[in-house]
Amino acid sequence: MNKQQKEVIYKTVKYMKELLSGEGTGHDWLHIERVWANARRINKAEKADAFVVELAALLHDISDWKFNGGDETAGAKKAAAWLNKLGVESEVVRQVAEIIENSSFKGAKVKNKIRTIEGKILQDADRLDAMGAIGVARAFAYGGSKGHEIYNPEIKPKLHSSAKEYKTNKSTTINHFHEKLLLLHDLMHTKTGRKLAERRHKFMQSYLKEFMGEVA
Ligand code: ADP
Ligand code: NI
Repeated sequence: MNKQQKEVIYKTVKYMKELLSGEGTGHDWLHIERVWANARRINKAEKADAFVVELAALLHDISDWKFNGGDETAGAKKAAAWLNKLGVESEVVRQVAEIIENSSFKGAKVKNKIRTIEGKILQDADRLDAMGAIGVARAFAYGGSKGHEIYNPEIKPKLHSSAKEYKTNKSTTINHFHEKLLLLHDLMHTKTGRKLAERRHKFMQSYLKEFMGEVA
């Protein structure tokens, strides 16, 4: 990255830190910081466009569709407005906006629209933070914020075939593991992502085994 690009990254870090301070659903600044670190680590092997990868990582949760009435383009628009304000070249803005618009998980049977290697790196980096011990914590924080039950044997997990169904689904947080989190290790795009996902996947499996043993 050149000096100008580093300056844009620095300003974006500052902006996102301020925007997400005090966030309590697992989409806080430290989530962004971990995704940013994961993305840089994955990109060491992939050698994609570092500026696009890092901007996408920093801005991906700027306005999540799950929290703003289901507008799937709000985050991409807000990110583009920010980058335009900083004078970032329009092709980079377009690429970052496209990644943000298409990076979110929208149901087990909904087709993933991520096309570019930069987008795949961001998606792997973000998904790693939904797995493992941190993933368990984030799932219960998110479920609690939405008033979902922790566990209910009467409600069965479902593999959703539309974003609307996935979003409006009043499932339990334990079901979310079967509806999304346990599927992620098979959906990793990059070799590094797959490698890092393995241990986190095994941890979630053993966590669920313990949980089911205690509630049985
Ligand atoms: P994505 O980009 O795929 O939407 P995010 O980075 O926005 O993912 O983070 C989603 C986080 O919120 C994950 O840790 C995920 O487990 C959690 N989450 C999303 N939906 C639910 C749900 N219905 N129940 C529990 N946790 C959820
Ligand atoms: Ni995220």
